[in-house]
Amino acid sequence: MKLLIIGHLGQVGVELQRALAPFGELFLADKESVDLADPDTIRQLISGIGPDVVVNAAAYTTVDKAESDFETALAVNGRAPEVIAEESARLRALLIHYSTDYVFDGSKASPWIESDEPSPINAYGSSKLVGEEAVAAKGGRHYIFRTSWVYAQHGSNFLRTVLRLASEREELRIIDDQVGGPTSARMIAEATALAIGSCVDLRAGAERNDRPEYGLYHLTCAGQTSWFGFAQEFLQWVAARRPNQKIARCVPIPSSEYPLPARRPRNSVLSNQKLKRGFGLKLPEWRTALHWVLEEMYPKP
Ligand SMILES: NC(=O)c1ccc[n+]([C@@H]2O[C@H](COP(=O)([O-])OP(=O)(O)OC[C@H]3O[C@@H](n4cnc5c(N)ncnc54)[C@H](OP(=O)(O)O)[C@@H]3O)[C@@H](O)[C@H]2O)c1
Repeated sequence: MKLLIIGHLGQVGVELQRALAPFGELFLADKESVDLADPDTIRQLISGIGPDVVVNAAAYTTVDKAESDFETALAVNGRAPEVIAEESARLRALLIHYSTDYVFDGSKASPWIESDEPSPINAYGSSKLVGEEAVAAKGGRHYIFRTSWVYAQHGSNFLRTVLRLASEREELRIIDDQVGGPTSARMIAEATALAIGSCVDLRAGAERNDRPEYGLYHLTCAGQTSWFGFAQEFLQWVAARRPNQKIARCVPIPSSEYPLPARRPRNSVLSNQKLKRGFGLKLPEWRTALHWVLEEMYPKP
């Protein structure tokens, strides 16, 4: 099989390289080889390779910057997925695309399910919703996985930012009134590999008769917490493992005390029931997956 990973240098992209390697020949594309804001480069990339599977892990993920640069966010998150879906459908390739919890407005008291009406409250969420809808509308073989609060031991994310600040400052003020599901890039990549295995007969390279229904699925680690709860968990873990390392005191604050350009949903916890029913997959608790990432970042001496 030929598998194309678009955005292989991103958080999820790096993990996909490892998780998808056993499936066949990997083709990797990032900004050097494709500009998602330019549909022609996308068409050239995909038709030049002729992949069996396309995984689009690239996105414009700078949530606050998207407020003042909506055109670029929309081009990368909204229009590029449409072109990727069109080309994948033309080649009958399986397309895996990722979306976000930020398509919801946060007003629900319980976890969001796939049939809940999206209603984004920021530009990033709006651009990602356009992308989801475009992929679905093209009607090709596709899975869209909505995930949330992504982090890894590499890349740009909340875990790494807070760890850096905690070593520089005395006190950190962290938002405690937004809840969601922290999800490691590693878990997303491994679940993606299992999903591809559920869909494709690897010996014949053909679609399996018993494959899960194509469409939209939520895919996050189990459980929920606030940004403060998430930070407390890893700061305490690091403090226990590295007693000599300076770790800032952490103070919970409401969102109103930390204004940012983009509004965030209060509750963006996603239900994973459909993933369980369709694929038989259940990701571990967010704490367990976090500890695995921390073990790699801070190996035992
Ligand atoms: N991060 C989160 O918390 C989060 C939450 C929910 C859902 N998601 C979704 O999960 C997926 C993976 O996210 P991630 O966190 O792995 O993203 P990431 O680490 O920000 O990586 C995204 C990659 O896309 C590349 N990219 C951006 N603009 C591009 C363009 N015009 N042309 C080509 N490549 C471009 C980036 O390159 P540069 O770094 O050079 O710009 C980067 O390598 C995305 O669909 C994202 O929307 C993420």
